[in-house]
Amino acid sequence: MKKAWWKESVVYQIYPISFKDSDGDGIGDLRGVISKLDYLQYLGVNVIWLCPIYKSPGHDNGYDISDYCAIKEQFGTMEDFDELLAEAHKRDMKIMMDLVLNHTSDEHPWFLESRSSKDNPKRDYYIWRKGKNGLYPNNWESYFSGSVWEYDAKTDEFYMHLYAKQQPDLNWENEAMVEELYKMIRWWLAKGVDGFRFDAIAHIVKAVGLPDADNPDNLPVVQAYQFFSNLDKVHDMLKKLNEQVLFEFDIMTVGETSGLGPEQALDYVGEDRNELDMVFQFEHMYLDAGSSGTGKWDIRSWTLLELKKIMSSWQTVLHGRGWNANYLSNHDQPRPVSRFGNDGEYREESAKMLATFMHMLQGTPYIYQGEEIGMTNVVFDSIDDYRDVETLNYYEQSRLRGQPEEVTMNAIHKKSRDNARTPMQWDDGPNAGFTEGEPWIKVNKNYKDVNVKQALADPNSIFHYYRKLISIRKQCEAIVYGDYTLLLPLDTEIYAFVRSVEHEKLLVILNFFDKTPVFDWPEDLRTDEKKLMISNYEPAEGEDVYHLTLRPYEARVYLLEGDCVKP
Ligand code: GLC
Repeated sequence: MKKAWWKESVVYQIYPISFKDSDGDGIGDLRGVISKLDYLQYLGVNVIWLCPIYKSPGHDNGYDISDYCAIKEQFGTMEDFDELLAEAHKRDMKIMMDLVLNHTSDEHPWFLESRSSKDNPKRDYYIWRKGKNGLYPNNWESYFSGSVWEYDAKTDEFYMHLYAKQQPDLNWENEAMVEELYKMIRWWLAKGVDGFRFDAIAHIVKAVGLPDADNPDNLPVVQAYQFFSNLDKVHDMLKKLNEQVLFEFDIMTVGETSGLGPEQALDYVGEDRNELDMVFQFEHMYLDAGSSGTGKWDIRSWTLLELKKIMSSWQTVLHGRGWNANYLSNHDQPRPVSRFGNDGEYREESAKMLATFMHMLQGTPYIYQGEEIGMTNVVFDSIDDYRDVETLNYYEQSRLRGQPEEVTMNAIHKKSRDNARTPMQWDDGPNAGFTEGEPWIKVNKNYKDVNVKQALADPNSIFHYYRKLISIRKQCEAIVYGDYTLLLPLDTEIYAFVRSVEHEKLLVILNFFDKTPVFDWPEDLRTDEKKLMISNYEPAEGEDVYHLTLRPYEARVYLLEGDCVKP
């Protein structure tokens, strides 16, 4: 397998608005990030994925960009950004920018021109259509509820927005527009940024003719992902982006691509494809979503068997052919300890177990801010405390549909993106040390117990466990490049697998629940040479290691062969 720095990296994702406020306006900023670089270096991560910091009216917290080459005032200045980049580089850390190429803000000058008249040269930078029989041009539903079309009286046409109505979709069929995007990307590369996360990149091409989706129940709008996700032409666009812009730079790229399995992902990340280094897949993020048509908001319970099946298939299909991006958490997802672990009695144990899982897989691990201290979901009683546009739209649509309030609020408590967006909990002081002002969104009530200050002081904390995982990963080639063999595929409680390269072999044992199953060590893996590399409990005195009774959420990694010393 080809070696690359981004395969050996651990990425830390920063959601700037909620990370650290330096000037007391209640909004996180770039100087706040700079002030925490030492913290991140101590954790051991070497790439920072910075969510959008560009100029933006902020209808979707920066994913609605109104100027790609300027910094949003509340986040700071371009000088602050340059300083952040330089300070990160000084500490051997890289900065990966989050770039939104599927849409802009409706306040972007391109869109202002585009909507001004039908014959404006930039009209075609976006996707405009006439209504059909006084209705929407087609029946596609937006990711944030309602139609993808917004009517614009000035020219009596509709524009498309797959996300919020303040996020009009760019028209990638328009070459002049694409050229302008290239120019902008070159500008960031010239500054020395180290990579890009391409937001919603699977959706930049829409099906020819924008056909209606099947609609047996004659609903006003229906899910139509197949018409705007992962279409063949996206690959042409990405190849061209590489040929024209990216190929000269030693950067890392990751694309956000919902709606695909590992075989299809190879079209993006196959070693010979020259498109993306890795993609964020979503299969495991839909494990707890039902099929009622309300997507993620339809809560169902997930099973370990399904999780194993999905993750194992990504591990094996991509092995030697492409590369995985491993995550349980980001700014769009609930907190993993609340979702896949136990945020009550076993918060620490389960957070460490899930971390072991992510860091022992093949692929680049992504840590989302706060995950390293086991931050949990938040439960706001009132919708007034929520800020996320997706959540607010869902609430409103559910109300109009007559769905009982408690059903809606329960779904929001479990799935709202705001679960991940409450302020980073730095200490047990006012506002968890995030700001000296009024935070833009309330702090999670548990900050007195769950915070960085406490975590740094406790050698057994989740934080120090992450540090150890990261340092082990840096030492062991088998963790980065080794193959993956699933053990006990049908066990409903234990997730165990082996990672190995020629000279090194590791066994990972994870108990996913609060029961105490017995792990029967496979005969061919029994060896007196075994060495416990990391675990979230002390081994029990007198335990029978080959018939190991696992404690709730217990995780262990054994080195069976080799020495885990970096070659
Ligand atoms: C991606 C981002 C999400 C954003 C959306 C629209 O899914 O991760 O936060 O709302 O794209 O840009």
